[in-house]
Amino acid sequence: MKERLLSWFSEIFGDTNNTEVYFAPGRVNLIGEHTDYNGGHVFPCALSVGIYAAASKREDDLLCMYSANYPDAGIAKVPLSLLAPKRTLDWCGYVEGVFHTFRKNGYSIDCGMNILIYGDIPEGAGLSSSAALEVVTGVLIRDFYGIDISNTDIAILGKEAENNYVGTSCGIMDQFASAMGKKDNAIFLDTNTLDYEYAPIKLSDASIVIVNSKVKHSLVSSQYNIRRKECESALECIRAGYDIDALCELNVDEYEQYSELILDDVCRRRAKHAIYENERTIRAKEALNNNDICLFGRLMNESHDSLRDDYEVSCEEIDVLVNLSRELPAVFGSRITGGGFGGCTVNIVANDGIGSFKEYISNGYFKATGIEPEIYVVTPGCGPYKL
Ligand code: GLA
Repeated sequence: MKERLLSWFSEIFGDTNNTEVYFAPGRVNLIGEHTDYNGGHVFPCALSVGIYAAASKREDDLLCMYSANYPDAGIAKVPLSLLAPKRTLDWCGYVEGVFHTFRKNGYSIDCGMNILIYGDIPEGAGLSSSAALEVVTGVLIRDFYGIDISNTDIAILGKEAENNYVGTSCGIMDQFASAMGKKDNAIFLDTNTLDYEYAPIKLSDASIVIVNSKVKHSLVSSQYNIRRKECESALECIRAGYDIDALCELNVDEYEQYSELILDDVCRRRAKHAIYENERTIRAKEALNNNDICLFGRLMNESHDSLRDDYEVSCEEIDVLVNLSRELPAVFGSRITGGGFGGCTVNIVANDGIGSFKEYISNGYFKATGIEPEIYVVTPGCGPYKL
């Protein structure tokens, strides 16, 4: 891969003097959805696919960006001095955003860079190609400009870039999972404190299988922002009677005790999802520690049902996939993963049933929707690295 990136780089930017190649992974979230902006737990793992970046410093202050995935777009060029939030809606906004955010946080970046990007992760599938792009940019800024910064802080700056520069109000999960990934482990992260623990993925004779629905409804970002607002209003209502800073500070019993303070039915259901999902995530991590894959799978199923019914972020195509999956005895659990309204499902499938799983899901999904899904059997990958 390194040679391929370097050869593209020299084609586009002339030579490969002082050029380095880096990688940052995408992620799949096993459970803990829409909890990260409610101060709850998440349980994602990094993937072995993600975003590669070949880069070298320039003598002037231009940032020159090229994506091998979008060759027709050519090289985008912008002087560092002209970076400004929402300047572009293109993919390069993520790269620009990280440069801008490092500078805003006082890190010195004294010259521009040539950057060639290549992603081997399906884009728009809810597997966090954008977080991987932010993290790989953070890592190359760290190394090229000699900045002393931890991977956790790179994740935090990546999120800040996405919130303020790109203008998407995501939580910290995706950037954290990409920056802090560990091979064969999931990350159990408390988004309130950023305390985390690695949990070895021991699934005995089963695997993580991702099914890409190949649909992405345009609702994603507008509905994401609406969900955040609904959770904020639910929090405001509860704060009238109980002193908390985030919904997930409540456990399920406390929620049941205070839920009547939330007058609006929709906001109450959103809060219910977040609080129950947080508890499911804590239990799922324990189940994994205890090798209880059946319980882990059941919690994944409950997570999906809650995302479908109370949080209302699923969609027809994803429900078709989940329902087909649950018809198979080899499947321990199946749920939507990521922000919602399309993207992928994550499934735990017994190894000896993976062949028939692929066939059954592909045929059934095609019959119901006319779309051929993509199916990937994955193992958790490591965090960012230099090739
Ligand atoms: C998107 C966001 C994350 C998280 C998930 C939902 O992936 O980027 O921060 O909120 O949705 O769990």
